[in-house]
Amino acid sequence: MTAPWYKTAVVYEVDVESFQDSNGDGIGDFPGLSSRLGYLAELGVTCVWLNPFYPSPNHDNGYDVADFCGVDERYGTLAQFDAFVTCAHDAGVRVVIDMPFNHVSVFHPWFEAARRDPASPYRDYFVWRADKPDDSAEQGAFGELQGGVWAYDTVADAYYYHSFYPFQADLNVANPAVVEEFKATLRFWLARGVDGFRMDAVPFLVHQEGVEQPYALLRELYAAITAVRPDAIQMGEVNVAPEELARYFGTGDQMEMLLNFHLNAHVYLALARERAEPIERALRDVPHPPPGGQWGVFLRNHDALTLSPLSEDERREVHATFAPAENMLVYGGEVRRRLAPLLGDEARVRLAHSLLLTLPGTPVLYAGDEIGMGDDLRLRERDSVRTPMQWTAGEGAGFTTAPKLRRVRPIVDTGRFAHARVNVERQEAEPNSLLAFVRRALRARRELPEVGTHSCDVLPSPHPGVLAVRYASDARAVYVLHNLTGSEVSVKAAWAVGAREVFADGEYEAVGAVGVSLRPYGFRWFEGAS
Ligand code: NOJ
Ligand code: CA
Repeated sequence: MTAPWYKTAVVYEVDVESFQDSNGDGIGDFPGLSSRLGYLAELGVTCVWLNPFYPSPNHDNGYDVADFCGVDERYGTLAQFDAFVTCAHDAGVRVVIDMPFNHVSVFHPWFEAARRDPASPYRDYFVWRADKPDDSAEQGAFGELQGGVWAYDTVADAYYYHSFYPFQADLNVANPAVVEEFKATLRFWLARGVDGFRMDAVPFLVHQEGVEQPYALLRELYAAITAVRPDAIQMGEVNVAPEELARYFGTGDQMEMLLNFHLNAHVYLALARERAEPIERALRDVPHPPPGGQWGVFLRNHDALTLSPLSEDERREVHATFAPAENMLVYGGEVRRRLAPLLGDEARVRLAHSLLLTLPGTPVLYAGDEIGMGDDLRLRERDSVRTPMQWTAGEGAGFTTAPKLRRVRPIVDTGRFAHARVNVERQEAEPNSLLAFVRRALRARRELPEVGTHSCDVLPSPHPGVLAVRYASDARAVYVLHNLTGSEVSVKAAWAVGAREVFADGEYEAVGAVGVSLRPYGFRWFEGAS
């Protein structure tokens, strides 16, 4: 039986507005993105996840949607979206789009109608209270910056619920009409050829007062999607305690993929401590996905790095190592840095990529991390990690021809990560660049589908700083070693005798009697008998 496509995919998260501008207005767009499909295919990407591109006042990077079935004119037209999907498919790249169903912008026509007229059918699309409920115990997703979860609307003279910012009014999923709108939206985009949806803020979406069976909604959405396209997926943003995760997978009839936030936070703890134990623990903590279920493995994304799966003390350790300055944090302890500046030296960045590609699941890369882009801590909140893609050393970084003041966000142009130093063009010309390394690693990973399709056995650690895992199919076994420490180590492993190395951080002597050696932050992937 061949594995479903998403189990052997390489996903690349990209925000249209900061990737490639085609018409010089300073804003990335669909024709620009289409023109970069060759780059993505060459990199080894087989699926893009697009951040929201719908009409939006854009107060939360498009996660404040004003029309679920359109394209914001800043990014192009629906026809240009369609052309992008066609080109992507021709290039062997699938398209997954972000779906923030938990809320809409307060400028969405549904909310406009709801606030004006208590008798409107849209009134009940939202969650209202005549008097302000006590929300002192409920902080909301953005902590203090958010200002509670109930906002007073002067037009409605009532309070509405918002899990996120006050300009994002939560939709009332207890109202069947709202669920019908969701389904119609999914069908609209499936008809345009998309291969799936990255479902935003799923725990917030399903858990709502008055809803007795929260996960039934996920089954309903699954049914609506698979009725049209049996192979289209939902990839859920589900950052909850490990014991709750299975409820989001269901029995293979809810969400196909869940982004593994628990593992993500523990990867940083392991890197900070230079110890394998936190990763081993995280792999034990999370449930086995049901048949058809899959983890999405990631290092960074467009948000701040949330360390909520860690204890207070563990979080402090990660902060001390990777985010020592106050302005690197936001929302009470999330890290608003990109991968490369966060980890510091390039050996660790490569090690992290190797982990990304060999921990159980489907890797989800964040655009720009493959060249080690930096961040801009002068920008507000999470904008620090959303600066434009750095294609060249030229003015506008090959992203745009627009002058500075018209660019969607500033291009990083000073310091170690300035576009003059860190850019695609330069790294394409350099055989040992990070980009060249990531391309090679993705190619090697494609030859090891077991990582995405078979269960992961954590092998007894031969050294506290070395993570050893195995994926065994009937035909063979894949073994992967990572040295999380800054020192050279050598470990003994019975399986290594006769195993063939398929990828590593550099050249190594063949496995000998002394064992398998690993350079500081080194890693080696092997295939052997199962
Ligand atoms: C999660 C998204 O990843 C984040 O960027 C957004 O702000 C919130 N959901 C609200 O939609
Ligand atoms: Ca543009």
